[in-house]
Amino acid sequence: MKERPPLVVANWKLNGGTDLICASVASFLRQNFRVQIGIAPPYVYIGNMANFLRNSQIMIGSQNVSKFESGAFTGETSAQMLKEVGCEFCLIGHSERRQVFLENNASCHTKISSTLSAGLMPIICIGENAQQHELGLTKHILYRQLHESLLGQNIKGQQIAIAYEPIWAIGSGKAATPESVQEVHEYIFNELCTIFDEESAKNIRILYGGSVNKNNAAQLLAMPNVDGLLVGGASLDPEHFSEICALA
Ligand code: G3P
Repeated sequence: MKERPPLVVANWKLNGGTDLICASVASFLRQNFRVQIGIAPPYVYIGNMANFLRNSQIMIGSQNVSKFESGAFTGETSAQMLKEVGCEFCLIGHSERRQVFLENNASCHTKISSTLSAGLMPIICIGENAQQHELGLTKHILYRQLHESLLGQNIKGQQIAIAYEPIWAIGSGKAATPESVQEVHEYIFNELCTIFDEESAKNIRILYGGSVNKNNAAQLLAMPNVDGLLVGGASLDPEHFSEICALA
């Protein structure tokens, strides 16, 4: 049994609608899982899904959050608003947000603070791109992402998680090998010990994401420092996602 109970999270990205919600809710309500499960649908579905799944073991979360708390910021949604509609966690700094919407470690730092202040669990996404990977810069990139977004955060009494998602593995059908994921997660754990302290670091779950499916989930989860998974494409099929959760 792992020290940190596993967490498996579905990131629906800009996908899904009423049909997927109904199928997912029906599928989850008739099963019992031994792990903690999260689903991050698009913003507009969060309230409804959180209501449907209120008494279940499934947490509903968001794929993003505003760095602002209120005011003249058209199109933004604050952590407090998300909390009010039943959201329990926020993905922060997903590589698609960094690449397409130009988010960076500084904006992630602000978003993590807002999320923690609202009492939500931030799941901070980090990872290197293909070129950085080939140049052997993975740890250098992760170091900066971790330190620049986490230093100074007050996590006492709060849950946070890290999702290591190598960009080259996302949507490519080629997940990183379990051994390489273990090595990177161990590095992340050691950096978390430096940023916070060992006791706090032991409570931070480190998830892997990037082409996870029911065929590779068990091997990834068997690694000592892999505390869960962040699943994109395979989470859009409720039965497939349930099979992954059942492996954890
Ligand atoms: O956040 C999950 C993600 O980026 C991985 O996507 O489709 O490779 O599982 P996918």
